[in-house]
Amino acid sequence: MESRRKVFIRPLVIALLACVAQAAPTDPVHAPRAMVASVHELASRAGLEIMQAGGNAIDAAVATGFALAVVHPQAGNLGGGGFMLIRTAGGSTHFIDYREKAPAAATAHMYLDAQGNVIENASLVGYKAIGVPGSVAGMVYGQKKYGKLPFERVMAPAIKLAHDGFPLAWEDADELHDPNLTKFPESRRIFQRDGNYYRSGEIFRQPELARTLERIAKNPDDFYHGEMAREIAAAIQKGGGLITADDLARYEVKEREPVRGTYRGYEIISAPPPSSGGIALIEMLNILEGYDLAKFGNRSAEAIHLTAEAFRRAFLDRAEFLGDPDFAKIPVAQLIDKKYGAAWRSSIDPDHASPSKELHRPGIFNELERYATLHPQPRALPEPENTTHYSVIDPQGNAVAVTTTLNDNFGSRVTAEGLGFLLNDEMDDFASKQGVPNAYGLIQGPANAIGPGKRPLSAMTPTIVLKDGKLFLVLGSRGGPRIITTVANILVGVVDYGMDIQEAVNAPRFHHQWLPDKIFVEPGISPDTLKLLDNMGHKTEKQGYWSDGECIAVDPKTNERLGASDIRNNGKAVGF
Ligand code: DON
Repeated sequence: MESRRKVFIRPLVIALLACVAQAAPTDPVHAPRAMVASVHELASRAGLEIMQAGGNAIDAAVATGFALAVVHPQAGNLGGGGFMLIRTAGGSTHFIDYREKAPAAATAHMYLDAQGNVIENASLVGYKAIGVPGSVAGMVYGQKKYGKLPFERVMAPAIKLAHDGFPLAWEDADELHDPNLTKFPESRRIFQRDGNYYRSGEIFRQPELARTLERIAKNPDDFYHGEMAREIAAAIQKGGGLITADDLARYEVKEREPVRGTYRGYEIISAPPPSSGGIALIEMLNILEGYDLAKFGNRSAEAIHLTAEAFRRAFLDRAEFLGDPDFAKIPVAQLIDKKYGAAWRSSIDPDHASPSKELHRPGIFNELERYATLHPQPRALPEPENTTHYSVIDPQGNAVAVTTTLNDNFGSRVTAEGLGFLLNDEMDDFASKQGVPNAYGLIQGPANAIGPGKRPLSAMTPTIVLKDGKLFLVLGSRGGPRIITTVANILVGVVDYGMDIQEAVNAPRFHHQWLPDKIFVEPGISPDTLKLLDNMGHKTEKQGYWSDGECIAVDPKTNERLGASDIRNNGKAVGF
């Protein structure tokens, strides 16, 4: 994986950013009516422009999504997939699943060699790593069903950005040096100017992408059923990939019931399978609800210990049970039951870490026993790469949380020839082999084995929180498995520690994912605290900064929109 460079460079960049940020306000951005938070100011502004033109939050989210495909090719995409969670001002909720699907020719062992070992990088880089993209279908579906403006109007900002270009930030120009992009001539030509790399501040124009966006604006169906579908399939097959025009034609967006829970009286609405995010989040919160975290103190050793123990347990269940609900029965109701959370809680020793390998699931539900299967081997966790989240609230109070991904930074690194957009490597989110960790160190069970037409398990966690029945928080992040714990860290920051949304987004994060059996911590957690955690039997590992919370809160008193873009990155919350 191309992650070494980033592991070393990113902490440096962030340290520099942190210096700037010290002088910058640490308050959220305030606006009376509407807000968009995303990882790129121009994408946030695209959403804002659409709301100022009379569009609602769904129009704005789709405009921001297409704009991210232009200004943030690391993760914004046409060639990937995502989840859109909507809560309308009237209180109805909708979850649009446009996760990628495995092509019809995919097989359970397609990434194994003759000896049955996982072939390195086969599910990560190149044509065979690509899943059937869902993003265009999902955004078109969401906009047509829940938006107000003509679709072409919503796409206009992205088309302009691709056509006219935009100045590259230092970090974005730097990331375009990705050596895996160099392996694919079309990617090298477009994103690396054939070796004459873009520099910070240079204008990056993407004429092929502008043309593709114009074609989608005029005929949104073209991507899946028209000439464009045939062009995409031909480009993938030329490189040895499996996706056919039939796979594109068969792609289906699914509306699913979001998962729901409560935490200390707040209502949590989040992502259902094929994401593990909402279930794991609610499971963690159910366990934590039994502790007075505020009493222990924000980022105290006791609070980190208990929270990490909740994370550990939810990730065990994630590995055992979760996958595509269209192919496997997922015991959702049991996993998010408060009784189950309480049973897990009683296995937590307040003073000592529970070694992951000795953890036994509480036997209170037979359904869970029936599905349990895993005998995993841990291994070191590589640095997660890229995905992106954005949040929108409009003047009427409609709210949208979208997380979208190519999986890795720049996905498979393959650009669809002549069409100017990158294709995902989402096939790595399947279990290439049972019990063997994927790129994020995640162990996955049989529910997440590769199969034709199946959606790989995700950790993306677009989440909406209500207080007294009213919209309160719109949350989400990138970060692979750390998405789930990032959202939990932010939510607990607001609810338990009384932080405002910007403080909660900025606060140092910690993460545990069952295996490897370690608490990963960002800089900013004190060495004394880490020593106390070590004394409780935890292994702690300090890492650089991770994830990217792009969140919005609503002030319950004034109804103001409070936008919080993560201090760790270059994003921006903008409102009016
Ligand atoms: O869907 C998932 O869970 C992963 N493909 C997300 C990858 C990710 O967030 C990488 N981000 N930093």
